[in-house]
Amino acid sequence: MFASLAAHAWAYPMLEVLHLLGVALLMGNLALLELRVFGWGQALALEPLARLSLGVALAGFGLAGVSGLLMFGTQAGELLANRVFTAKMVLIMLAGCNAGWFHARRSLQRQDRTARVLMLLSSALWLLVLTCGRWIGYV
Ligand code: HEM
Repeated sequence: MFASLAAHAWAYPMLEVLHLLGVALLMGNLALLELRVFGWGQALALEPLARLSLGVALAGFGLAGVSGLLMFGTQAGELLANRVFTAKMVLIMLAGCNAGWFHARRSLQRQDRTARVLMLLSSALWLLVLTCGRWIGYV
């Protein structure tokens, strides 16, 4: 399956399109929620907004994950030897742990200083994931 994906003229570019769509849904929705936690758009109730934006962000991550794994399958050996790809996977795990911590301490209900710090950390981690993703092809 991976060999035919790699050989197909437009399969890989289309996977990249889906990957970037997933990234946009993930990061766009997290940015929206972060703005709300930092005090913008106070007319919008936080709980339903969070439910919607986190749901779409999770779907975006799922799309990025599935398309990313299919792209990975076409060049697994090369990517496993690529330090930037390794860094990207470690950063995704850290971002996942950070999100787990954020929700385990019920940050959306508290919206305290730690919640805001964890949100900023989340943005920094996803931005680094984005940077590594784009960088993979250059090392
Ligand atoms: C399990 C999750 C993921 C896997 C397995 C994965 C895997 C990959 C692979 C194999 C590539 C192609 C590298 C290349 O051929 O140059 C790629 C590209 C990329 N990834 Fe991911 N990725 C994942 C999630 C993410 C996330 C969450 C982001 C952003 C927040 C992201 C951002 C990017 C970017 C910007 C590119 C470059 C796309 C392009 O230049 O067209 N990836 N990813």
